[in-house]
Amino acid sequence: MQTRQLIPLALFTAAVLALRAFAAPMDTSPREHLSLDNHWKFHLGDDWPGALHLDKAGASTGPASEKFSDQSWRSLNLPHDWAIELPFDKTSDESHGFKPVGPGFLKNSIGWYRRTFELPEADSGKRIWLTFDGVFRDATVWVNGWLVTRHEGGYYPFREDITDVVRFGGKNLVSVRVDATKFEGWFYEGAGIYRHVWLDKTAPVAIAPDGIFVRSELGNPLAHGKAHIRVETRLLNSLTNPAAATVRCEILSPAGKSLAKFKESEKVPGESQRYFNLESKVSSPELWSPESPQLYQLVTTVEVGGQVMDQKVTEFGIRTFAFDPTNGFLLNGRHYELKGTCNHQDMAGVGVALPDALQSFRVLKLKEFGCNALRTSHNPPTPELLDACDHLGMVIMDESRLLGSDRQNLAKWDDEIRRDRNHACVGIWSVANEEFSVQDTPQGGNAARTMQDYVLQLDPTRPVTYAAPEGDTFAGINGVIQVRGWNYHVGKEMDSYHAKHPNQPEVGTEQASTVCTRGIYANDKTRGYVSAYDDNYPSWAHTAERWWGYFADRPWLSGGFVWTGFDYRGEPTPYHWPCINSHFGVLDTCGFPKDNFYYYQAWWTTNVVLHLLPHWNWPGKEGQEIRVDALSNCKQVELFLNGESLGKKTLAANAKLSWQVKYAPGILSAKGYDDAGNLITESKEETTGAPAAIRLTPDRSTLNANGEDVSVLTVSAVDDQGRPVPVAQNQINFQLEGAGSLIGVGNGDPSCHEPDVFAADVPIRTIAVSNWRWHLTEVPKRGALAPGYAPDFDDSTWNTIRPKTDGDTGDMVLREGESAIYRAHVTVTAEDLASNGVQVRFTCIDDRGWIFVNNQRVGESTDWQSQPAFDIKSQLHVGDNVIAVGVVNESGDGGLNPDVNLELAGKPIASAWSRSLFNGLAQVMVQATRDAGTIKVTALANGLQPATATLQTVPGGLRPSVP
Ligand code: GAL
Repeated sequence: MQTRQLIPLALFTAAVLALRAFAAPMDTSPREHLSLDNHWKFHLGDDWPGALHLDKAGASTGPASEKFSDQSWRSLNLPHDWAIELPFDKTSDESHGFKPVGPGFLKNSIGWYRRTFELPEADSGKRIWLTFDGVFRDATVWVNGWLVTRHEGGYYPFREDITDVVRFGGKNLVSVRVDATKFEGWFYEGAGIYRHVWLDKTAPVAIAPDGIFVRSELGNPLAHGKAHIRVETRLLNSLTNPAAATVRCEILSPAGKSLAKFKESEKVPGESQRYFNLESKVSSPELWSPESPQLYQLVTTVEVGGQVMDQKVTEFGIRTFAFDPTNGFLLNGRHYELKGTCNHQDMAGVGVALPDALQSFRVLKLKEFGCNALRTSHNPPTPELLDACDHLGMVIMDESRLLGSDRQNLAKWDDEIRRDRNHACVGIWSVANEEFSVQDTPQGGNAARTMQDYVLQLDPTRPVTYAAPEGDTFAGINGVIQVRGWNYHVGKEMDSYHAKHPNQPEVGTEQASTVCTRGIYANDKTRGYVSAYDDNYPSWAHTAERWWGYFADRPWLSGGFVWTGFDYRGEPTPYHWPCINSHFGVLDTCGFPKDNFYYYQAWWTTNVVLHLLPHWNWPGKEGQEIRVDALSNCKQVELFLNGESLGKKTLAANAKLSWQVKYAPGILSAKGYDDAGNLITESKEETTGAPAAIRLTPDRSTLNANGEDVSVLTVSAVDDQGRPVPVAQNQINFQLEGAGSLIGVGNGDPSCHEPDVFAADVPIRTIAVSNWRWHLTEVPKRGALAPGYAPDFDDSTWNTIRPKTDGDTGDMVLREGESAIYRAHVTVTAEDLASNGVQVRFTCIDDRGWIFVNNQRVGESTDWQSQPAFDIKSQLHVGDNVIAVGVVNESGDGGLNPDVNLELAGKPIASAWSRSLFNGLAQVMVQATRDAGTIKVTALANGLQPATATLQTVPGGLRPSVP
């Protein structure tokens, strides 16, 4: 979100937090920005297709209806991706990571979510907004049975003003049907409500959603000049009368000091909106850059009649971005090489449902090898990724999902721009990626120009590009786009294009696509592994050394974006099953570095880097030649095997060094020298012993006890001398005690089919409730007692129910307008009653029914489609029990389906979380609960000494949320 309260900042690492001091203004505004992530109910399956009948307002059925009981559904918190929970399936789509979701897998592709919430009477008069940051995909949303929106795209946010249909002073229900039967991309996309959901309450005169745009223009010379700040505020007035409103702005420095206050007063007509345009200046601004991500705050306060109506805090950066045809990308007026990576949004363990802490984790991983820019390929990003990039310093290329100038696509593009334009990190917009069918046509050019014009209107501060997969071609989109984007085509086509179009800036939107598997040094088609020597790439692609060497020599190219920073699920190029994820990453799906990480680190950072590959554990290869590469930025590197020099080599810029070495176990080492011949660094790879112990290393040992924060633990195996064993493949089991839970495991192995999540297993035992008797009779209104409900009532003269036969439910015995009582006896033992829970589940009560157990009313069913279940443990006793249902059949055939069962829930069997090491490493993610305390994570493996990591969870970072 572009504007937010300060709380989420607490999710960042302590180190990052320490850099910032925030002075939060007194929030006296009636606005509440509340998380609606917790306490959802979920059901997988298209069991209520009738719910989509849209014939009458508020008449929705199934889970869309308030009458429906979701008691038996699974409880969960968002964000949630159900695709990650499914087993791999060879028959499902390869490019989506072989998860059985999408076309052909209807059973797994439709999910329902339900959430109830209360709105106090005191809120009446406020506007109530419901916002989904992203749902994959095709979401239909009802509030209190009213259809409020249908949103198709899996990556765009959507929001509704639901004030008209909510109940103040009562209970409200949100029902969401998510339909992931269609794909949008050609990569893993997940399934479900995988980003945050928000409930916003505002006064009737308030700032419109995404209604603030703050931008800065810099004076000259930059560092000593003044930044000119322009603030546009869109106010909504939902009252019938005009409102005389004052918009006050205050700018706070990165250290929280008040720098400027300015205001404007205007009338906002009734049931209308008005833009307020204000201006101010900041002297000697502290400029934002990836190296120094300074953030200012704009506090916008709206007053009507001297009363505060709204207040929002918007973070922003003061900086300029420009693309120059000769000097490339200019950050704050100076040439700045974009050292970027493209990324999809999924990660090991969690799929696309990333808790915010993992966004920061990923950005920090990218920064470790000098990456300073990220392309959100090929879709609008999760807002929290942008937050992380604002705070940690990373330039964003913010991409749309699709090219198109139709109204729907432009509306989505509009939403994306308005949501993201205040982010300091956003440096350029991308209208689309590789639109092969239309890119060279005049129509393609028209659509791109229309999207580009939108940006000019909504955000004149950033340029626009298109990720073009073609060479020296100026037709269509390339001819109209401000910044020519290059997907691949390294070589003379770029030079000749540049010579022909010297006035068009250019950028490498997508480059490399080198395929490497971490820790693997020979291609292995059967297992689906590619060597990590940076030798392999598809026909359209290049090695890291080739593309970067070329770009580094041509400043006009502005730098570029590697395909990709992280491996992602799907696109297992160049192999197929058993391979389930891509090999393009500089990092694997967990964020463990492949060897190319060190190539980029050498040429993208100022650190002294000297990395040798491969590892030195090659039993059986004694005397055989092994290629040894040094990835370094030293002037010269000398290689040694067991102390004996194998020669000193000089390293050219952006290159690497290679030797052929006859393998002998021991120590492979290297010394790095600077220009003057001074030894500046050393590095070694040792032949290790067998794995002897496990090591657990958390990325953070202190977490916020907010139910969201996450620590990522690296699991490795070491030998008896404590040296990491690079070939260890041990199966590791995990246990957790204390204030947290395990949320995902991974190991970066592109062919691993082990689960990423292990749901707690609740064993269910069923007891059939049979031998129903029934009798046509009046059923007391509103669930009042009837003699026929009593346990000792003599029902021997009542009818029995015809047994079910194929094609005959045997139960639909009531005609329209008839009513009846149904009864059955069921015997329960002490052992049964010792169960964790006992529910009675009905297959169908048609149309309306009141349910009694031993003459005590346990519930009501008003929707014949809902298969209701009721918790009846406290109404049961050892011995004979009577379950009775009074049924009123309003229309058509009706009655009670005698297929009724008691479901006895056993003790949840703590799921046995486990993951094998892949080439020495695995990962386990731990999420804090809301209880401050400690979390103990233990990793165990056969024959290895176990390891325990202790994490602290401390109060803080609790998001304001709907209870
Ligand atoms: C590009 C495409 C990416 C990915 C990549 C693999 O052409 O834009 O989404 O498929 O190829 O090399």
